[in-house]
Amino acid sequence: MRPLIARPLIAGNWKMNLLRGPAVALAEALRAGAGGIAAELLVCPPAITLPAVAAVLAGGPIALGGQDCHMAPEGAHTGDIAAPMLVDAGASYVILGHSERRQNHGETDEQVREKTVAALAAGLVPIVCVGETAEQRDAGNATEVVGWQLSGSLPKGFAGVVAYEPIWAIGTGRTPSEAEVADMHGFIRAELERQFGAGGAPIRILYGGSVKPGNAAALLAVPEVGGALVGGASLAAADFLAIARAAPGG
Ligand code: 13P
Repeated sequence: MRPLIARPLIAGNWKMNLLRGPAVALAEALRAGAGGIAAELLVCPPAITLPAVAAVLAGGPIALGGQDCHMAPEGAHTGDIAAPMLVDAGASYVILGHSERRQNHGETDEQVREKTVAALAAGLVPIVCVGETAEQRDAGNATEVVGWQLSGSLPKGFAGVVAYEPIWAIGTGRTPSEAEVADMHGFIRAELERQFGAGGAPIRILYGGSVKPGNAAALLAVPEVGGALVGGASLAAADFLAIARAAPGG
């Protein structure tokens, strides 16, 4: 059994949800309830509410992250957000290559890799997302797809977090079996060690896709699952905190 390399990371991806008032209220409830939780906690609000949430979380145990960043540190890129701007707003993490961005914005592995380089250069911890569609899994290609995403999306010397999010499990209430999660996370660990040698061993691998209070303990106990990336259930303080308490050591 591999030694525990880090505390589990429980990350909330708020996606495009919550205006400033409810976002601040959620952050306040999370901060008030975070005492005694062993897992590392992270919330990733929309960029525009990040400063308001940062003001609530400042000096507390809950870290802050963005949901995307541009690959350039500044410049003529209308509507985009640069990694140093996330840092300036109080973020220490950024989610990159989420399947919703790959699907809705046509993001490629190469673009995700460039964004990852930019995030690392700015001092952010990137959370790089990978995951297969239902069709790819049904065709028996899940590990091949994830393998290509890993080798395409992670730059040389990658020091960050990987999130395995099967697309068919996102927002659907369906999750892979514990055996399927164990297989994929074991495969991802082996790929990380193949790509990065000893540097691949401490990379945290999160599971994401319909994580709820009721299934969190089982999913988080699977070998090589180093935490969770939570969507819908991260929008309710009680649910997110229950998931965090379900983490090993929690
Ligand atoms: P759900 O937890 O809503 O399935 O979303 C998962 C996700 O996409 C987190 O990034």
